[in-house]
Amino acid sequence: MNLLILGSGGREHALLWKLSQSKRIDRLFVAPGNAGTALLATNIDSCNFAQVRKTVVENNISMILVGPEGPLVDGIHDFFLADPELKNIPVIGPSKQAARLEGSKDFAKGFLVRNGIPTAKYKSFDKDTSLEAAAFLSTLAPPYVIKADGLAAGKGVMIINSLSEAIEEIDAIFSGKFGSAGNTIVIEQFLKGIELSVFIITDGVSWKLLPEAKDYKKIGENDTGLNTGGMGAVSPVPFAGGEFMEKVKAQIIEPTMHGLAKEGILYKGFIFFGLINVDGNPYVIEYNARLGDPESEVIIPRIKTDLFELLEGVAAGDLATRTVEFDNRSAATVMAVSGGYPGAFEKGKAISGLDNAGESVVFHAGTKLEDNTAITSGGRVLAVTSWGETIEEALATSYRNIAAIDFEGMYYRKDIGFDLISH
Ligand code: AMP
Ligand code: GLY
Repeated sequence: MNLLILGSGGREHALLWKLSQSKRIDRLFVAPGNAGTALLATNIDSCNFAQVRKTVVENNISMILVGPEGPLVDGIHDFFLADPELKNIPVIGPSKQAARLEGSKDFAKGFLVRNGIPTAKYKSFDKDTSLEAAAFLSTLAPPYVIKADGLAAGKGVMIINSLSEAIEEIDAIFSGKFGSAGNTIVIEQFLKGIELSVFIITDGVSWKLLPEAKDYKKIGENDTGLNTGGMGAVSPVPFAGGEFMEKVKAQIIEPTMHGLAKEGILYKGFIFFGLINVDGNPYVIEYNARLGDPESEVIIPRIKTDLFELLEGVAAGDLATRTVEFDNRSAATVMAVSGGYPGAFEKGKAISGLDNAGESVVFHAGTKLEDNTAITSGGRVLAVTSWGETIEEALATSYRNIAAIDFEGMYYRKDIGFDLISH
């Protein structure tokens, strides 16, 4: 069978790397992919739904795995179901309605509260109620958490210490700072704790837990500076022990699955629970309708089971009969980014040393091929993943091997995992 992955980042390269080990798959395609995916699959330069349709028909593709949220929120699942020629080709990833768990923070918060799932207290507002938004803010203690309802390229969450600046921010959002993504805003209580990412795969009825991870979002060491897509990740997460994960299952995953069933929302794919551990209790910060990036670059390498068997279980609705085996080793990934990221940065830098990564695996993110050479084409360029008996060991290997890779302006954090390992 032939399988198509949609997306172009480190997550998609990791999914492809894993699926390329499956004996069940004949040919793999990625749209649009990057310089790394081109070594394992056919890259297809097509992104819109009509082009994806053409690729699927022409290449006899019989399963689609969707990496990023964009096509899900835009309804790729529904597009396939509505097409007589495509409707039997499973799309692994939720329907448009289900992807609202990520695409609308107001919808997600409503869902959480309706289903009794622990989350920060909140209220939603639109332009007509903007004065009430300011009044609500003043009832809260700083810092103030303000979120644009829709997808805003990871920039839609603001955490602001000053009340007057928070009120100005609300005005800016309602004046169009995030376009229609900011037509509604969510204001919520600030939760203090340590974050982690928990993932399941589900066929809509049963679910399997995947390895959890912690990512490092800030550009600077010691978690300082601007937010990025993620500068590195580790798995497992030491504070997510048995007792905590039992709470996650009972208080978060199970009620989410019941809520989906009760509300008639069919969900086939991955659910990413962005959680925060507040004094030993898990709260949901957000849902994502996909796997995380760079979390995928550590959780996929910790899955021993053939990933295709799980995707097949999602498509067939018999996930309950399948088992997921984990690799008990630790995995760590360190992301190399373009100088200047997450602000302005230059692209098109030649990357050297990619063949010298030793026992690490290099997952490409923002790279492309030019004259058979990998050059940079994005902010996050590549992730160097390693395994070890401990997180320290995995990190030491990644740091040793990333040092062999170079491109002009390359930057990476030297302290991934710093808060989890003993010094
Ligand atoms: P989100 O896009 O919803 O994941 O938010 C981005 C980041 O903002 C999260 O990863 C948290 O670090 C932070 N954040 C969001 N909501 C809250 C909250 N209620 N309390 C504390 N931090 C938050
Ligand atoms: N690393 C966080 C995300 O993928 O949203």
